[in-house]
Parts: sequence; C-alpha cells; structure tokens
Amino acid sequence: MKVGIDSMAFATPRTFVDLSGEWADRRATLFANGNADDLRMKVKKGIGMNCMRVPDAHEDIVTLGAEAIKRLLDSSGITLAQVSHILFATEGGVDLSKSASSYALGLLADYYSADVSHIANVELKFACVASSYALEYAAALIRSGMTTRRFVIVVSSDIAHYELCTPAEYTQGAGAVALAISVDPSLVVLDPHPMGAASADERDFFRPLFKDTPTVDGKHSVDVYLRLVEMAYQRYQQSYFQSQLKASPSDVIADAGALLFHVPFPKMAEYMAARVLMPVAGSTSSAALRDPALRAEAEKEFRSSGVFRSLFAEKIEPSLGLSREIGNIYSGALFLGLASLLSQSPTAVAQLAGRRVIFFAYGSGASARAYSGTFSTKIAPLSPTAGPNSLMQGDGKAQAGKECGRALNVPDYERLHAFHGQCQLRQKDGSLVAVVPERDSVCTPRNAFAYLGMESGNPDREGHRMYRYQI
Ligand code: HMG
Repeated sequence: MKVGIDSMAFATPRTFVDLSGEWADRRATLFANGNADDLRMKVKKGIGMNCMRVPDAHEDIVTLGAEAIKRLLDSSGITLAQVSHILFATEGGVDLSKSASSYALGLLADYYSADVSHIANVELKFACVASSYALEYAAALIRSGMTTRRFVIVVSSDIAHYELCTPAEYTQGAGAVALAISVDPSLVVLDPHPMGAASADERDFFRPLFKDTPTVDGKHSVDVYLRLVEMAYQRYQQSYFQSQLKASPSDVIADAGALLFHVPFPKMAEYMAARVLMPVAGSTSSAALRDPALRAEAEKEFRSSGVFRSLFAEKIEPSLGLSREIGNIYSGALFLGLASLLSQSPTAVAQLAGRRVIFFAYGSGASARAYSGTFSTKIAPLSPTAGPNSLMQGDGKAQAGKECGRALNVPDYERLHAFHGQCQLRQKDGSLVAVVPERDSVCTPRNAFAYLGMESGNPDREGHRMYRYQI
C-alpha cells in the first residue's frame, strides 16, 4: 500500500520583523559593538535569516493551526467529512489537559457549519520532532486499516518566542503547516522501511511550566542536534542498504533529489549538511572524526568547498526560502522546507517527480528521526491558496517588504512580544489577560480566526479559551 503526503498548506501571522531594518539599528550596541551593518551581515549570512514572523495579539497556536487546516481543505477540495483524524503537533500547548486539536476542531466546525463528531483528534508533544511522530502515527493508522475516512490531517503549529536581547532573539518565528495523509498520495509516498532513530535525555532546550520563554543553551543545542541527527541518519542508511541492492553512502545521497532538515535557522541546515556530506565527499580523516574541535574546523572548511556548495545548491537550498522569511516554526519547520520546494517554478517541481526525499527531523530534549519518501509522479506546485499570498511568489524566493504583510516597528514588536508572554501566565494580581483585537492587535483580524483571551470570573469556566472567526 502506498501511503504518504497527498496535499499541504501553511499559515503564518501577517506581522513580521525585518531583521535588516530598524531592529538591527536598535540591537547593534548589544550584539555588534554598535555596528548595525555588521549585525545585518551576521543575521543574513551567519544565521541565514531575513525576516521573522511575530504573532499578532489575537493569534496563537490554535488560530494558526486552524488557519493552516482551512487552507489545506480549501486548496485541495478535501472536506471535513473525509477526515478521519486530526493529529496536532505542538510544543506550545495552551492547556495541560484540553487538546489544542479540540479548540481547532471547534473553530473549523463553526466556520464550515460541519458535523465533526466523527473526527478523532489528539495533541502530540516532543519539541520540534512531534510532527514527524505525528506523520508516523498517521501512516501507521492508515496502513493498519484503523482509519474511518480517507484522510488523516497532521497539523504542526508553534510560536518560537525567546527572551529579547539574547542570541536566540533572531531565531524566532511563528506558523503552522497542515498535511493531508492518505493512500496513493499526490506529493510524497513514504518509504516503508524502518526509520532511523536516536534519543537521549538532554537539557539543550526546554520550557518549564513557570516560564513563557524556553531555557536554551544555544551552542550546546547545535551540538546535540548534530550528534543525534547524525546517529539517526546512520541508522536510516543501514535500513536503506537492506532495502536496496548495492547501496553505498554516496548512492543514498545521489538518489536523493532533496535533503530536508529541521530548520531552527537556515545556517543550521548548512552545519548538518556538512556533517552528512563530508564523509560522502571522502574528505574526513579519522583523526578529525575523533576530535570534536578538529572535526568542527574540517566541516567549516568543507562548507566553503566547491563540492559542498554545488550539492547544497542542488539538494538543500531550494527548501530554505520560506524559513529565511518566516523563522523557526518549531514543529512545522521541517515541512515548511517541503512547502518551499513546492513553491518553486513548475519546471523545478516537475524535476522532483520520482526522486527520493530524505527527512532529517530533530526535537530538543532530545530525539531525532531520519526517514525518506519518493516524490509522486503526480507532483505539482503548491496551490497559490495553500499559503499566505505574500509568501507564495512562485519561484521559492519569498520577498521581504510591505507586500508580505505588515512590517512591525520595534516598539510594536516589543509590545506584542510582552503581550504574548502575559497571555501565557496569570498576571501578578492573579488576573487573566483579555484580548480585544480592535485594541490590542496591530492588524485587526478580518476573515480570520481570533483568540479572545480566557474566561474569567466563573469558577466553572475559569481559564477556558475563547475563539471566533472574525468577519
Ligand atoms: P550566535 O551567538 O548568533 O552564533 O548564536 P555565532 O556567534 O556562533 O554565529 C553564528 C554564525 O554567524 C557563525 O558562522 C559566525 O561566524 C557567523 P560559522 O562560523 O558557524 O560558519 N558570523 C558572521 N557571518 C557574517 N558576517 C558577520 C558575522 N558574525 C558572525 N558579521 C545560536 C547562534 C543558534 C546559538 C542562537 O541564535 C540560539 O541560541 N538560538 C536558539 C537555539 C537554536 O536555534 N538551536 C538550534 C539547534 S536546537 C533545535 O533545532 C531545536 C529547536 O528548534 C527547538 C525544538 O526542538 O523544539 C530550537
């Protein structure tokens, strides 16, 4: 049975920070000894980011997730009556008991005036890798015959919200990606052989219940990502060798039309690609492999080599376009790479047909998964209605600027940042923050799902979240 990704869509906030604008002037003293151009260069070339999406006051993981599912349904023609399950991957859960999927389903039921009582739904958590676990779960459900309708929806929705004025600040972002999983899919057929796994109890990145931002050891998190994804990939290769005749590590890379990484910031894809490609290029000495410092130096040198640059340009760069404009969307970041690939020109997308795609998933805490699929011969570019108009440029190169939504000035960005922090927790006086979009939002929601705060005052409803579709 061929099972995989049949169609997809994504959603982001309209509001964004242009990291090459006023933000760089304001942070230059802190991050670059007062040299704003140096900071601009570092963020663009050293981190790989142009802009980062920031949620408006009325947006949260539920509104973004519901919007991504709505775009998926509207752009593909799938109806809620055809959906068996919704699996909601997030690390930004809004309640310790009630599933974000339940809130999202409520919004969709109202919007479509549809009966959704047949749709099984659940929230899954493991930092950014939960989306890959959700995909595995969806495929296993379909293969086992336990689904009641044709499609399982996997939606990944997150807001990367770090402390201001830390090096993590320029790796924020927000967005959701929805995938429809089915038999005989039109985009990617998942390979049936076992996935590569690697797990370890790590403290690289986590968000304790009493905080609204994660505790993150940035440099350590990069090292853990590299180590675990490499381990998972080595295990993936073993199962790949067993399923193919005469496969060698370079065959695995040569067969692949695209390597898709979890992208917390685009430069991370370069670090990981060097780790994967250097042994294939035959330029790793065993001494360099044993010594972490020597290895880091060798990988840095390899990243500037012609061999690396041409493999990177062919197999990885086309998947990074949207991440550069949106930022880290945690659980959806890996699949935003797929959306970038499918936002290329029709000729570039057609060339992917029949080629293998390898997914390198990572979640802090930590777990990595390496798995693959084959692009369907029916593959087509993403529909213009499957993402925000402003980001669907048709050539995979999203443009920064006014046409892409609303660029925030720094005071508005910092106000929204603080507002989202307050919305997560009780205020010092014990009260809950009410959200009044007309007063609190930079862009008043029109034809959009809106979060309106939590109910307060009635003990039976205290803390229940309020949403509506705002016309
Ligand atoms: P940083 O201090 O900005 O990093 O922190 P840096 O000083 O090492 O600089 C990065 C690169 O910029 C270097 O490139 C510099 O040379 C270069 P490299 O040498 O490595 O090739 N650079 C410049 N380039 C051009 N012009 C210049 C210039 N100056 C410097 N003028 C860090 C970066 C990622 C650590 C920080 O942003 C951070 O803590 N981010 C949050 C954590 C994170 O994203 N970790 C990623 C791995 S963990 C993960 O992916 C999981 C996660 O998504 C969560 C989950 O699973 O749920 C986060």
